[in-house]
Amino acid sequence: MKYDVKDLKLADKGKQRIEWADHDMPVLRDLRARFKKQQPMKGMKMSACLHVTAETANLMRTLKAAGADVVLCASNPLSTQDDVAAALVKHYGIPTFAITGADNKTYYKHLKSAVAHSPNVTMDDGADLVTMILKERPDLHSKIVASMEETTTGVIRLRAMEKDGVLKFPVVAVNDAKCKHFFDNRYGTGQSTIDGIIRASDVLLAGSTFVVAGYGWCGRGLADRARGMGAKVIVTEVDPVKALEAVMDGFRVMPMVDAAKEADIICTVTGNVNVLDKRHFKVMKDGAMICNSGHFNVEINLEDLKAMSKNVKRVREFVEAYHLKSGKTIHVLGEGRLVNLAAAEGHPASVMDMSFAVQALTTEWAVKNHKSLTAKVYNVPEQIDDGVSRLKLKTMGVKLELLTPEQKKYLASWEMGT
Ligand code: ADE
Repeated sequence: MKYDVKDLKLADKGKQRIEWADHDMPVLRDLRARFKKQQPMKGMKMSACLHVTAETANLMRTLKAAGADVVLCASNPLSTQDDVAAALVKHYGIPTFAITGADNKTYYKHLKSAVAHSPNVTMDDGADLVTMILKERPDLHSKIVASMEETTTGVIRLRAMEKDGVLKFPVVAVNDAKCKHFFDNRYGTGQSTIDGIIRASDVLLAGSTFVVAGYGWCGRGLADRARGMGAKVIVTEVDPVKALEAVMDGFRVMPMVDAAKEADIICTVTGNVNVLDKRHFKVMKDGAMICNSGHFNVEINLEDLKAMSKNVKRVREFVEAYHLKSGKTIHVLGEGRLVNLAAAEGHPASVMDMSFAVQALTTEWAVKNHKSLTAKVYNVPEQIDDGVSRLKLKTMGVKLELLTPEQKKYLASWEMGT
């Protein structure tokens, strides 16, 4: 079996970690048991490009149990859990190409290894795999049955490909399923970003001024959790409706150039480039801490920051101090990459249970229905959201209220008014 991981000796520790996460993934466990019997992915070759975490390992086990021939590569150079990657190879027989801290060349070599598997189903977190296949492997285009996309940034890229007419096979926007973004983006990113900031810096959030750039689902979750820890939260937003929502949720809203003057901590979650750049670095307080929880490391203009600095020193495991020529210091956490995965462990298993149950069920649906799919971006079918939420509630011991026949009739009628 081909693979590239840091050290196979880490495999036993990784297995323990995968099993620990599995306890909190009852929906995925349930699917794994069914898939093992029904083999819905039998004969499928699948390449996945995801954050190589314990939760992802449980998704890979589920797809393998379904009969797929799966390989996995990393979707970010800093998010790989090396012990998990080793366990996937040694204990679960899944070819894995992922090493934490990989340089750009190795990162793309790993992607190439996943593409070399010649998949007919792919799964992405950020659309790097699809991009490479579209650019470099035209021979695969007609063979790909479907591609699943996990994250907001990836869906935005795929919709741009569809608009430009370069998409050559069907893709499904898993991120846009309710059971994904309502919970993973909001509560997962909210908690894991706070976790990453604290693990990296040991900062006290109570009483601090915490700026959240972007009030999408991730920003909403982060702002709410930062407030819960006692921070004074400021939101920056370009969309008037989202800005209004942030105001009515009780946050101060202002342009970044003003927020940056007050900030102790700034976290970007916009999906856009250079949200923090020279004009913001100039006005930041001495000792301000900045980080990013958006998919790509493009939100903080580190080149500008470097150009303004005398030197850069690593002062803690995940913290670099940029000593500016002006005499100020700005601290960058996690090299401006996803701080929740670089400095912590990403979202907790319990919320990934839902995201990855949606991934697994959507893959099953796409394989079953591929003959009716064309080269477009599809939404996840509603019954998958319904099924995952019902199952999750069941595992939590929560019962739903049921409509009476009279209530069903009322909802289906229009005659009755005041
Ligand atoms: N994205 C965010 N958190 C994650 C996790 N724990 N595993 C995989 N992908 C993630």
